[in-house]
Amino acid sequence: TVVVLDFGSQYTQLILRRVRELGFYSELVPYDATEQEVTKLQPAAFILSGGPASVYDENAPKIPDYVFKSGLPVLGICYGLQALVHQLGGRVERSDRREFGPAKLHVEKGIGVFEDLPAEFTVWMSHSDRVEELPDGFEGIARSENSPYAAIRSLDGRYYGVQFHPEVIHTQYGKEILRNFLKKVAHLEENWSMSDLSEELIRQLRERIGGGRVILALSGGVDSSVVAMLLHRAVGNRFIPIFVNTGLLRKNEPEEVIRTFDGLGIKIHYVDASERFFKVLDGVEDPEEKRKRIGHTFIDVFYEEAMKLRELYGDVKYLAQGTLYPDVIESKVAERKAGAKIKTHHNVGGLPENLPFEIVEPLRYLFKDEVRALGKVLGLPDSILKRHPFPGPGLAVRIIGPVTREAVVLLQEVDHIFIQELKSWGLYDQVWQAFAVLLPIKTVGVMGDYRTYENVVALRAVTSEDGMTADWAKLPHEFLNHVAKRIVNEVKGVNRVVYDITSKPPATIEWE
Ligand code: XMP
Repeated sequence: TVVVLDFGSQYTQLILRRVRELGFYSELVPYDATEQEVTKLQPAAFILSGGPASVYDENAPKIPDYVFKSGLPVLGICYGLQALVHQLGGRVERSDRREFGPAKLHVEKGIGVFEDLPAEFTVWMSHSDRVEELPDGFEGIARSENSPYAAIRSLDGRYYGVQFHPEVIHTQYGKEILRNFLKKVAHLEENWSMSDLSEELIRQLRERIGGGRVILALSGGVDSSVVAMLLHRAVGNRFIPIFVNTGLLRKNEPEEVIRTFDGLGIKIHYVDASERFFKVLDGVEDPEEKRKRIGHTFIDVFYEEAMKLRELYGDVKYLAQGTLYPDVIESKVAERKAGAKIKTHHNVGGLPENLPFEIVEPLRYLFKDEVRALGKVLGLPDSILKRHPFPGPGLAVRIIGPVTREAVVLLQEVDHIFIQELKSWGLYDQVWQAFAVLLPIKTVGVMGDYRTYENVVALRAVTSEDGMTADWAKLPHEFLNHVAKRIVNEVKGVNRVVYDITSKPPATIEWE
């Protein structure tokens, strides 16, 4: 395992992703993790991340002793480099001037991490302190205008340090630098491919679940679908996926999910709880209240079904969840910050802790794009892998004001036309998410000789990398024109269509 020690940089996760993309198994560990925890991972090399601290801060995070004692190759990035220098007897100078952004790097010695790279290229800097004097047995191998020691190494070739960030895409040859460290410096072989991983996960699941049975809340989204495929391959029909129809899904969604999984040989335990959801939502307007009620009801319904299955088969012992690595990191960080509030997961599917099941989380070391790649290896169709994200509370948060069955049906029709047209114009895969929102106002229109007084729907489509920020999608006018015409002509009760042209921030993607 390539162990990435986290000193708190915003880029730490990126280091991990790059290393894995390069085909090396890697894990992230807080800098103050115990030696035992780290030893368990069988480290083969260490990468020290950047971080916001200065080595002169009181309580500045330190590189733990076991790293030095291990004899393993070490790459320090930004703060990681400064901590290396500081702890090995060199000098880091405090500075209030930040070097931030692109810088020209001049490679002085094309060895180690710089093997086969050009003598000059652009790197991404983000630091204020800088290295002024090297520890004994070290040499500088690259400089930039502001950093005389932009890259250094120990003469024995064990330690490397770079002031810039090879993990961000703005650093030219960043990937090559990391690859050189792993292959040329640490002499590691690639050991991380999706098909290896998938076989390994299946084997582990089979071992863990043994002769028992395992359940899963399957939504048809990417994460739970990939978990379903793994479980199906691992234990066959001792895996029981539960699909809860909240009544708040897209048009035909339950049927499509059932059909898709049927085609993959997976039989879904289907529960229609829509009546119950509409009842608890009756008259509720506040978005957070909607989310709360939907969340609780979902848990209740799922729990009741799980207990029924348990009565039917005594050996339903395991509950699988599609938790991903960012969730794991996030909650670890939150746990560590004393008093910090753990972000309330707004995912429906967050289940209470004291369930009578052992939790199985096969995706807990993976990032979203890795999950997609895994799903592909496992044979999931694009209709699932490329599906837009859909919020747990479903259409309830896309109906502004009280949620009724009639409102849902109307919105389903509008949404269906929009999505269908996006697909047939080849635009669906170009946007992160697209949907319609039903507004709580009526406006005047004219149809034929009649004055109408009917609903307004808003269309929303955004592009995004991760949902944290988003731009409104510049969909072609002819397309919007065509969709608006179809909606007003075909959906009774709608006489006006508007298009949302705000980005996030300041708006959010959803309207509620
Ligand atoms: P916002 O509206 O916060 O959305 O910009 C960011 C992403 O999160 C999704 N979203 C939710 N997902 N439960 C979910 O499972 C929710 O309550 C929820 N609210 C927003 C949203 O669809 C977008 O992809």
